[in-house]
Amino acid sequence: MKALILAGGYGTRLRPLTLTQPKPLVEFANKPMILHQIEALSSVGVDTVILAVSYKKEQLESEILKHTEKLGVKIIFSVEETPLDTAGPLALARRYLNDGESFFVLNSDVICDFNFQAMIAFHRSHGKEGTIAVTQVNEPSKYGVVVFKKETGEIEKFVEKPQEYVGNKINAGMYILNSSVLDRIEVKPTSMEKEIFPEMCQTSNLYAFVLKGYWMDVGQPRDFLKGTQLYLDNQKSAIPSTSTNLIHPVMIHESVKIPSKCCIGPHVVIAENVILEEGVRIKNSTILPNTILRQHSFISTSIIGRKCTIGQWARVENTSVIGDEVVIKDEIYLNGALVCNNKTISENVLEPKVVM
Ligand code: GDD
Ligand code: MG
Repeated sequence: MKALILAGGYGTRLRPLTLTQPKPLVEFANKPMILHQIEALSSVGVDTVILAVSYKKEQLESEILKHTEKLGVKIIFSVEETPLDTAGPLALARRYLNDGESFFVLNSDVICDFNFQAMIAFHRSHGKEGTIAVTQVNEPSKYGVVVFKKETGEIEKFVEKPQEYVGNKINAGMYILNSSVLDRIEVKPTSMEKEIFPEMCQTSNLYAFVLKGYWMDVGQPRDFLKGTQLYLDNQKSAIPSTSTNLIHPVMIHESVKIPSKCCIGPHVVIAENVILEEGVRIKNSTILPNTILRQHSFISTSIIGRKCTIGQWARVENTSVIGDEVVIKDEIYLNGALVCNNKTISENVLEPKVVM
C-alpha cells in the first residue's frame, strides 16, 4: 500500500521554529514530526511514501534521506513549484498513486496512536471511495467538522473551520482514499476540505472512522505542548521514577547529563546535547538540541529552540517559544514571549508578545 503525506505548508502558526525548518522536521518527542507518521505507516505494511513538498523542500529532502534506510520504505518526493493546497498535491502525484489500490493521505502534523490496521479494515468493509479518521475535541472551530451517521459512519456533512457550531467530531487529518478520488482533482490549488470532501459527501462516498485514544494536531505551540503531554502519558514503555530529580513521564536524550539539585518533569522532552547546569527546573516543556540551560534557570510550558543559551535564574513560562540561537541574559523573565531566531534578550517580557 502507498501513502502520501502533505508536507508543504508554511507552518506559520509554529513560528519561529518553522523559520529555519519546515514544520514536518520540527522535533516532536525527539524526532522529526513526520518520522512518527512514516514509522506508523511502515508498521502496517505501507511500502512507498510520497512526500508532497513545497516550502523548504531541499531541507526536507536532505533530512529525510538521512533516515531512509532505517525507515524501510521507499520515499518519493513530489515537488510543488507553487503550493497546491491540500488536494492539488494528490493530482500532481497521480502517476504514483493511480494503480487501482487505495492509499493513505496524512497531514504531517498530527500525533495519535495511529491505529491504521483497524482503519484499513473499516475502509474495506464499507466499500465506498473514502474514509476519514475522526476524533472529538472541545474547540471544533479550529478544524474540519464532520457530521455522520453513528450506525454506519456515513458522512452527511463536512464543514471546514465552521464559524457557527456544527458538531464536535472533527477531521483528524488522516484518510484512506480509492484511486477513483484522483479523477475529482486537477493539478491546481484545491482544498480537500472545502472542495473535494463536501462533494464526496453529496454522493455518500465518504465515511468516518472514529479514532480510539489520544489525538492532537501539534502545529501550534499550545497544542504542541499539550500533544507532548498526551504522547508521554501514552508511552507504553514509560519508566517508573528512579531518580529523585525526575518527575515522570519525561523523555531525555541519552547524551544529556542531569546534575544534582535539578528537578525535571513532568511532561518534559530534552533533545540531544542539551547541557543542564545545577538547580535547573523544567516542567511541561520541550528543549531542542544543543541548548544550554544555566544554573537555576526555570522553564515552564514552553518550547526552547536549538543552540540557545538560557541565563542563570532566568524564568521562561506561559507558552513562550524561543527560536534558534537565542541568548537570554541572566535573571530575565519571559511570559508568553515568541522570540525570533538569533536574538539576545536583556529585558523582561511581562505580557505575551512577539520579540522580533
Ligand atoms: N504539499 C502541500 N502543499 N502541503 C500543504 C499545503 C500545500 O500547499 N498546504 C498545507 N499543507 C499541509 C501542511 O503541511 C499540513 O501537513 C497539512 O497540509 C494540513 O495543513 P494545516 O495548515 O496543518 O491545516 P490545519 O491544521 O489548519 O487543518 C487541517 O488539519 C486539521 C486536523 O489537524 C484540516 O485538514 C482540518 O480539516 C483538520 O481538522
Ligand atoms: Mg495542522
